[in-house]
This record gives sequence, C-alpha cells and structure tokens, in this order.
Amino acid sequence: SGSSKGAAMVTAVAQRVTARRHQSLSSFRLSRDQLRSVKARMRAGLEAGLKSNSHSPVKMLPSYVFRTPDGTECGKYLALDLGGTNFRVLLVKIRSGLRRSVRLYNKLYPIPLEIMQGTGEELFDHIVHCISDFLDYVGMKKARLPLGFTFSFPCLQAAINVGTLVSWTKGFKATDCEGNDVVDMLREAIKRRNEFDVDIVAIVNDTVGTMMSCAYEDPQCEIGLIAGTGSNVCYMEELRNIEKNGLGEMQRMCINTEWGGLGEDGCLDDIITEYDNAVDRESINHGRQRFEKLTSGLYLGEVVRQVLLDLTRRGLLFKGRVTEALKTPGIFETKYLSQIESDRLALLQVRSILQHLGLDSTCDDSIIVKEVCGAVSRRAAQLCGAGMAAVVDKIRENRGLDQLNITVGVDGTLYKLHPHFSTVLQETVVALAPQCYVTYLLSEEGSGRGAALITAVARRDQVEM
Ligand code: GLC
Repeated sequence: SGSSKGAAMVTAVAQRVTARRHQSLSSFRLSRDQLRSVKARMRAGLEAGLKSNSHSPVKMLPSYVFRTPDGTECGKYLALDLGGTNFRVLLVKIRSGLRRSVRLYNKLYPIPLEIMQGTGEELFDHIVHCISDFLDYVGMKKARLPLGFTFSFPCLQAAINVGTLVSWTKGFKATDCEGNDVVDMLREAIKRRNEFDVDIVAIVNDTVGTMMSCAYEDPQCEIGLIAGTGSNVCYMEELRNIEKNGLGEMQRMCINTEWGGLGEDGCLDDIITEYDNAVDRESINHGRQRFEKLTSGLYLGEVVRQVLLDLTRRGLLFKGRVTEALKTPGIFETKYLSQIESDRLALLQVRSILQHLGLDSTCDDSIIVKEVCGAVSRRAAQLCGAGMAAVVDKIRENRGLDQLNITVGVDGTLYKLHPHFSTVLQETVVALAPQCYVTYLLSEEGSGRGAALITAVARRDQVEM
C-alpha cells in the first residue's frame, strides 16, 4: 500500500543518512594493526630524538633530573606552574623523616589571552606580578625562597636551571621568547619589578613534575604522562642511550619526550583525517604538534566541531543549519566532551548542554553528537595508549627484562575528567605491550609538588657534588 511504501522510503532515507554519517566517523576508527604501527612510529621517533644533532619531531629533551625523590627531601619552596589550564603560584613545605609530608598553599591566576599572545616582556611581567601578589598573600616577601618553575613547553636544557624555549605549543604565542632562556627572562622580570628576590633552582616540564610527585609515593614510578590541554610523556632513560649528554657517572636521566610533535614529518598522514587537517590549519601553530592535535584537550573539541560542521553542511545534523555557535572555535571544551559522553547523562541532558552552547538540537541530533564525541575521544585515548606502549616497551628492553612492572604518574583534565579516556588508554597499552604491567597513579597537585621536590633534590645534589 501507499503508506507502507512511504514508510519504506523513509526507512531507506534514514539508512542512507546513517550510512553517510558512519562513513564520516569510520575515518576515526583504528584497527589493532594500525595502532601497532603507530606504536612502532612512536618508537622510531623516540630513538631518533635521542641522537645528538637530531631534528626529530619527537624532541627527547634532557631534564637534568637524575633520580626520583627518596623521602629525605625537606624545606620550603616556591613553585610556579605555567602552561596547563591555569597559572598558579605555590608555597610547598616538604618534611622528611617519620613525619614526611608535602603541604602546599596555592593561588590561581588566570592568564588573559592577550598576555598569552602578547610580548614576552608582558608575559613575564605578569608572572612576576602574580608572584608578588602571592608573596604578600603568604607574608613571605622578605624570604629569599628557592624556586622551581614548572614551565610546560619544550625547553632545551643545558642544566637543571637553564632552559631555552624551543617553541611555544598549545595556546601560547608570546613574542621574543622562542630561542631565549626562560630562567633569564624570569630573572630579568624580577629585577625590573625590584620588590623581592628568589633563587631560581630548577626549570621543570609538567610531565617531569608529575613523575616526581608520584614517585614520592611510589618508587616504581618512572614515567610521567600529561593528558590534558596538551599531551606529553617523560620517562627515565639510560644515560648510555642519550647521545646528547656529556655526563659520566649517573645511570639514568629523565627525558621529556615532547611526543606531541610526532607526525610533523608527515609520518601520521595516513591516519590523519580531513577534520584534523582543518583543525591544524586553523591553529596558531600550523603543521606542528600533529600527535598532540589528535590526542589532547585543547584540540579534541575542535575536531568534534569540524565533524559537526561537515555533517550539518551535508544536511545530516541540526536541520542543516550552520549557526554562529557552530562556527565558533573552542566552544567544545574538554569538560563538555566529558559531560556529553558520560553514560549517566540522559539524552535530554545532552541536549541541554548543547543548548547551553547555543546549539538547538533534536533528540536524533544529540545521539549523533554523542557518537561523534565518542569516536574522536576514543581515537585519542587509543593513540596515547599506542604511544605509551612504545615507551614502556623501550624501558623494558633498555633493562633487558622479559617483564617490566612500572608505574606511570598521570595528570591532566582529559585523563582525570573524561568518562572513558583512561580505560581505553589502559586497554590499549595492555593489548600492545603485553610484557609490561603498568600501574597508573593519579597525581595530586603534581606540577607544584613535583617542582618543589625537584628543587629539593637539585639543591641537595648541588651541595653534595
Ligand atoms: C605540550 C608541551 C609540553 C607539555 C604538554 C602538556 O605538549 O609542549 O611541554 O608537557 O603540552 O602540558
């Protein structure tokens, strides 16, 4: 009859629509073999970066951190944390012995976009202004405290307290900083203000801070992972493998891999989608940090937005209406992705989140948005897992072991807040590195605590040397 024919047509149209949507999402699906191959490419990137004079996209930067804390560290430290979701200044008190503990006080200071992307002098003046405010707050303007600076960008270090900014990553783009020593820039800004003095002892990547802070609780922790605004890993490498260093006696040094750079040479092109390319084109560091753009919080929402834009333009979503909201870069922050993908959330609530973002949706729309978020974040977690599998297997082989037990200290909003990211990452590591038994330890205040611990270790090692 006519009506059943009509129904059949509707079904056929619906199926075609679903098929087209699935086609868009299938480009995010990675087979086990593809993931194995990503692991191999990450491994090759790690090896290439360890070579001296290499220009490998995986930079493998020496941290001059030679050991994890042993519980004998103590003292009062100032710590700065720049490069994550917020800028923070912290006062950290470490006690050793029977009453060993780390206590901290901290204050958050948002960094306005115009400062992140203004001049270097403005950026460092702003930082020093925040330190000054903090020292007033804790009443310690007169004390010349040792300071550890967690600076979460690639820095080429020649010592624990010397580090040249190689290039900005994530949302930062202040002028006149790349190629300069970060400690010098901070020291100069402190001099310009001329209100207080500090002793800048260490410059630290957030991955290294996270590893150190977790190692304080678990000595088996020799890897640090950040899955947040950016994506990066550090781990304890054998000194004999580090061509870049001239240090004889120590056995290991922590290497900041800067794995987010993988793919800058095109080695990930076969898995990169048109949506990823659109995100890359619109980013402030076009062509750079290709792995980071597939795996970290700053970009996942943008990838989702590109897919939604495409589906809408093709009439498969939002009644085909491309609204201003949908055209706004950055609307899908990690926290919304995490909420949308939560299994406890009813579809009606997904719709209300979309509404909040200025997107009118039907029930079907909300299902599609959830599918898109799922596909993008799952791929991110799998890729991080593949990278991690490369790192743990390298450590296992370094040490000539059949089986490695190791702990990874982890921080970052994506890992901590997303409902599935950590599980998928862990499952991928189990599948791709079956000879490694990996424990994941969430870091609490890793960057601040870690910076203070590194400062403590560095000062003591200086005295002992
Ligand atoms: C970016 C930075 C790196 C940092 C990571 C996580 O990848 O280049 O240094 O560790 O973000 O914050």
